[in-house]
Amino acid sequence: MNDLDQLVQDANCDFARAAMPADLENAKARYLGKSGRLTEQLRALAALSPDEKKARGAMINAAKQQVEASLHARRQALADAELEAQLKAESLDVTLPGRHRGTGAVHPISRTMERVEAIFGSMGFEVADGPEIETDWYSFTALNNPENHPARSMQDTFYVDMKDTQGRWLNLRPHTSPMQVRHALAHAKKYADQATMPDIRVIAPGRTYRVDSDATHSPMFHQVEGLWVGENVSFKDLKVMYLNFIQAFFETTDLKLRFRPSYFPFTEPSAEIDIMFESGPLEGRWLEVSGSGQVHPQVIRNMGLDPERYIGFAFGSGIDRLAMLRYGISDLRLFFDGDLRFLTQFK
Ligand code: DAH
Repeated sequence: MNDLDQLVQDANCDFARAAMPADLENAKARYLGKSGRLTEQLRALAALSPDEKKARGAMINAAKQQVEASLHARRQALADAELEAQLKAESLDVTLPGRHRGTGAVHPISRTMERVEAIFGSMGFEVADGPEIETDWYSFTALNNPENHPARSMQDTFYVDMKDTQGRWLNLRPHTSPMQVRHALAHAKKYADQATMPDIRVIAPGRTYRVDSDATHSPMFHQVEGLWVGENVSFKDLKVMYLNFIQAFFETTDLKLRFRPSYFPFTEPSAEIDIMFESGPLEGRWLEVSGSGQVHPQVIRNMGLDPERYIGFAFGSGIDRLAMLRYGISDLRLFFDGDLRFLTQFK
């Protein structure tokens, strides 16, 4: 092996050993730099005769080309390795499942309330809202409840161990019916001039509470109260209005309505409203959906109105019951368990 072959071999070794681009540039300087080994060889040509110069020059150039080729190959290899390492570090595993940002949805009961509000709204009813912690007076007395009525007993009603500023006991309202008198009194100004007063036509949906818990009862449940009072309102209006509501709510005219005599202290006469579907999965069974009746004269009086002049009807329907029938749910408690497997089905 001559000295130039040796030089080329040394350069190949040095270049191969360079692990980083900076190492490689240092190695390059040792061969091709100003005082590199090849540069020195070229400089030494000056001392040779023209013939020797020609021969030796050609050999040095050939060696130089080999060194340069080796350098470029190593440079490329290092750049490739760097790129590969970078790609690996930044790689995306597209087979990983994505991270979801869940989208919320309206709870089926809220959705049912909105539906009820929209339907009654389209029939000219206002929507009113009232307190869930009510006074004894609004929950019972104003509604013509005798002092000894069982609805007042500790068994049904959640009492709050507190009185309001007027010394009236508080309770978690066991129905939305207190909204009848509450609404009328709250708008007493509007109804003050009884000669020109508009009909009271209002619904009051909301939460209600009773000491009760099984598949069809929950200690917290929802009702919608309806009230229509005017000079010329009759049971016929109640029947037509409620039939329209039920047909719109269940999106079918294929059903019957039945008024079954009942008793409530705040209505006389009173009736339960039952419905029966004439087709579909609930076909042929009478289902109770609401209490109703003609508002008792004493309740009209408690509203600040003259019962000789004003007459009307009221109803109180179970929102949860309506939702269960509409969605085909057999256990009411499912609505309130907060189980997403159940709730997401209503999205
Ligand atoms: N408040 C009654 C209940 O919870 C339902 C009810 C019956 C409401 C008759 C009314 C009505 O407005 O007229 O059982």
